[in-house]
Amino acid sequence: PVIYVLNGPNLNLLGLREPDIYGSETLDDIAGMLEDRARELGAEIEMRQTNHEGMLVDWLHEAQAENAAAVLLNAGAYTHTSIALLDAIRAIRTPVVEVHLSDPTTREEFRHLSYVGMAAAGTVQGKGAAGYVEALELSLSL
Ligand code: DQA
Repeated sequence: PVIYVLNGPNLNLLGLREPDIYGSETLDDIAGMLEDRARELGAEIEMRQTNHEGMLVDWLHEAQAENAAAVLLNAGAYTHTSIALLDAIRAIRTPVVEVHLSDPTTREEFRHLSYVGMAAAGTVQGKGAAGYVEALELSLSL
């Protein structure tokens, strides 16, 4: 099975960006962790990052077209604003697991609403980089 791992805005700066909140691992470090675990589980990772909302929509459609088994989605701040992402997740049959390094529900009020969470098959948040690995395991059990 192929698992798409889609990362949204500002996550290219991971490791440098507010490390007290998001940790010191880079997105490449996370990709490495996911690839190691995927190999053990007999899965394959397709890891991507974009700062553009519509690109995430296109990649969600692509995940279904390419018969991905699941998508792990950290949509960054678009999580809290994007009805387009909510609709895209509802538009595809591919299950989507929402991932966040931090726990948005314990942060500013404006992070408490998650459009992604309204349609996601599951959510892993507040567990830092390790949360991506947990989300991978969850996605393979859906
Ligand atoms: C985030 C949480 C979001 O609220 C924030 O906008 C991000 C990162 C996380 O991984 O903790 O960009 O998705």
